[in-house]
Amino acid sequence: MKKIFFFAFIFCSTKMYAQKFEGLALTPPMGWNSWNTFQTKINDSLVREIADVMVSSGMKDAGYTYLVLDDGWMSRERDSVTGNLVPDPKKFPNGMKVLVDYVHSKGLKFGLYNCAGTKTCAGYPGTRGYEYQDARFYASLEIDYLKFDWCNTDGINAKEAYTTMSKALKAAGRPIVFSLCEWGTNKPWEWAENVGELWRTTGDISAVYDGYIDHGTWKQTGVMPIVDLQKGLRKYAGPGHWNDPDMLEVGNGMSVAEDRTHFSMWCMLAAPLMAGNDLRKMSKETQSILTNKEAIAINQDKLGIEGFQYEDKDSLEVWVKPLENDDWAVCFLNRSAKPMKINHNWKDELITDPLFHKTMNAKEHPYKIRNVWAKSNAGDTQKPLVAIVPSHDVMMLRLTK
Ligand code: GLA
Repeated sequence: MKKIFFFAFIFCSTKMYAQKFEGLALTPPMGWNSWNTFQTKINDSLVREIADVMVSSGMKDAGYTYLVLDDGWMSRERDSVTGNLVPDPKKFPNGMKVLVDYVHSKGLKFGLYNCAGTKTCAGYPGTRGYEYQDARFYASLEIDYLKFDWCNTDGINAKEAYTTMSKALKAAGRPIVFSLCEWGTNKPWEWAENVGELWRTTGDISAVYDGYIDHGTWKQTGVMPIVDLQKGLRKYAGPGHWNDPDMLEVGNGMSVAEDRTHFSMWCMLAAPLMAGNDLRKMSKETQSILTNKEAIAINQDKLGIEGFQYEDKDSLEVWVKPLENDDWAVCFLNRSAKPMKINHNWKDELITDPLFHKTMNAKEHPYKIRNVWAKSNAGDTQKPLVAIVPSHDVMMLRLTK
């Protein structure tokens, strides 16, 4: 009898602890978000056109599921009678529910944005004090994803604020992926595993390869510094709870090699893949980067292990990521301004991941090599790899036992 009580207690306390919906985002979420290209210039026809092109361009088939409207979808004031949020009637003359239905009719999912503070970053009504009401509003719209930002939150405790919203979503009863956009200020990786499915680890990204763009009161971070800021965070990520180094800037102004590098690193980092370009006008190169199924398979690997930097020699870095069935992804990243030569003798390198107890020992077992961007087989690990990686480019490989 005592035993039964003991197990009942354990069961109940686990249930109480499991505050967020279980089983959402078991692999990093994939989709499109309006912010990086459109900021607040969003409207009904844009959403419909993006939904259409997500299907026709092969993005949906490649795994991009969520169409997320970022800041700027609301009116400046809540409804004076109900207190509900109001979609901007000029931008969304048919309301939001019809759009959600349209996006769902395409086999896609729909997401919205709000903020834990009193106002969003662009000055629209924030959720502070309206958490349960807003969660019920989102559930009534049947949305599937909520990005929740961190502007205008003076004096608020981040863990409490995000936990309140998470509980409100749970109470509203609709499974909604909860994306914490707190910029890493309060180390969400240490407390958000049961609060949401992903948390931003840094400030906002920009479409520059290296360095920062300074706006005075805030700065945007380039792709390489964002990669560097992920160090030490991999132990916090896994199925259902991801580090989010921000949305993609592929197709937004960097060179093709830099876009390929950006995308490859987000795959190696098991990062959410939220495209941020104008899908209606993307070039063939951009499309083929975003829809490379072999790269995406590395990102979406079921183990959900975030990759790590194995080596750094004169700006030629080697990143590795353990995959299902003892496969490994290996990405040679050339950060320098000149082409770099790889001379990598697989048999000399015993690669271990002590955190997730994985080992790649090419001396004991040969691996077959697949070149992910060339989409070709590239021999095996019996012979050293000798190749040139152009400046700011990568060579991404999948090794199979
Ligand atoms: C913050 C976020 C961005 C975007 C904008 C919207 O800067 O970090 O991703 O959502 O707000 O105003």
